[in-house]
Formats: sequence, structure tokens, C-alpha cells
Amino acid sequence: MRTPLIVGNWKMNKTASEAAAFVRELTKKLPASSSIELVVAPPFTALESVRAALSPSSPIQLGAQNLFWADHGAYTGEISAPMLRDLGCRYVILGHSERRTLFGEQNEGIQKKLRAALTHGLRPILCIGESLAQRESGNTDSVLTQQLRGSLAGLDSLAMATIAIAYEPLWAIGTGKAATPDQAVTAHCTIRDVLAGTWSPAVANATRILYGGSVTPQNIHSLLKSEQIDGALVGGACLQVDSFATIATIAESIGV
Ligand code: PGA
Repeated sequence: MRTPLIVGNWKMNKTASEAAAFVRELTKKLPASSSIELVVAPPFTALESVRAALSPSSPIQLGAQNLFWADHGAYTGEISAPMLRDLGCRYVILGHSERRTLFGEQNEGIQKKLRAALTHGLRPILCIGESLAQRESGNTDSVLTQQLRGSLAGLDSLAMATIAIAYEPLWAIGTGKAATPDQAVTAHCTIRDVLAGTWSPAVANATRILYGGSVTPQNIHSLLKSEQIDGALVGGACLQVDSFATIATIAESIGV
């Protein structure tokens, strides 16, 4: 049984004080019991204030949107895994398509970041996904396979047990045009096949695969209904308390 995981990727939104006010409001609107894991990933500058605004027993866990692979040193402008752990982060999003396309991240560097995260006890959420041109030319499966193998190369089954994969087709991110449940399920099955073939059927069966790309309170139910979809990585719809709380409540009610 894979515990459903709902992650809010705030991207470059909200100041530290806005972020604290946001999670206080969100906390009031969440379902009392929780059979799902709920993560918010604010900008680095808001991690401290969000942590302070959450009670130690809060169901909301803290995630970061990126890290750099070295622990410390002369890397101006970068943030390391130990720094994130020290701020209470449990999760880190890695390889998001905006990092890949806007900041030139490639599988080799993402692999180093994954290893740094694992070394310091952060749970990576590895993002992969095809562009519209790659989909239309029939290359979705090979792109997903290449991104998985390139980013996860050399990791053993123990390491794989702490990694979640987020399938985020580029054409669905921020466009309001989410993948249909069928499209998402097909991609998730491809990902699970690669995990089974590269590691083992047990790894494939245990790994949580999230869907991301224009997830909303309106479409979350139809996506999570499939047993192939273990949660969601939410961008735009996580920036309003009501819509993120609704997504969490629906996920909770389905129990995935
Ligand atoms: P979106 O973003 O929900 O705004 O499409 C998702 C993401 O980029 O993770």
C-alpha cells in the first residue's frame, strides 16, 4: 500500500510573512485525520517562517524546491542538503522542468543532487516529463526512460525506497491543460515498467508516482481514482488556501 502524497510547489511565490500566514490558514481547513502525506515546498526564504508557523504535530511537512549537491563551500547563491535539513525539511523536489529548461539542469547533475539529498536524509521527489514535441513525435516513453535511468543511475533498492517520482508533462504545466487520467496512467505504467526492469518489480510496486501539471480541485478526483496515480505535485492551485485544502480533502477522501 503506497501512502498518497500531495505536494504544493509554491515556485517563486510568497514572502516569508505571507507564507507563514498562508500555512496558518491552511492548517485550519485541513481534514482532522490524515491518511495522506501533505507537503508544502515554499521558496528557501520562507522555510524558516513556515516551520515556525507549524506546530510540531502538524500534518503539513516541509519540502524544498531544489538543492546543490555539495555540503558547503564556495558555491555562491546555492543551498545545501544539510542547510535544508537544519530548517526542518523532509522532502526536496529535484529536476523540475523549470530547472531543466530555464536553468540548464541535466540528468547527471540531478543525479548528484539526489545522492546529496539521500545522504542527508531528505526524501527526493524526482520530476520527469516530455515536451509537446516529444509526445507528438512518439518519443514519450524513451524520454521518460532516459530521464529515469539518467537521474537514478547506480542507486540501490534501499535508496529507491525513499524516492518519489513526479510525472509532469511539460505541456500540462501552468497551461490549464492537464493530462487526461488515461494519458497520466499510461505514462505512470511506463515509469513503473522502467523501475521494474532496471531495479525490480518490488521497487516498482513500492515507488510512489505522482502526477503534476494543471492539477485543480476539479480534476484531482478523476486523477487519483486510478491506483496508478499515488498523489499530485500541485503548482498554481496550491497558492490559494481553499483550492489546496480542497485538493488535500479530496485526496484524503479517496485514500488513493
Ligand atoms: P501547475 O504546476 O500545477 O501550475 O501546472 C505544476 C508544477 O510545475 O509542479
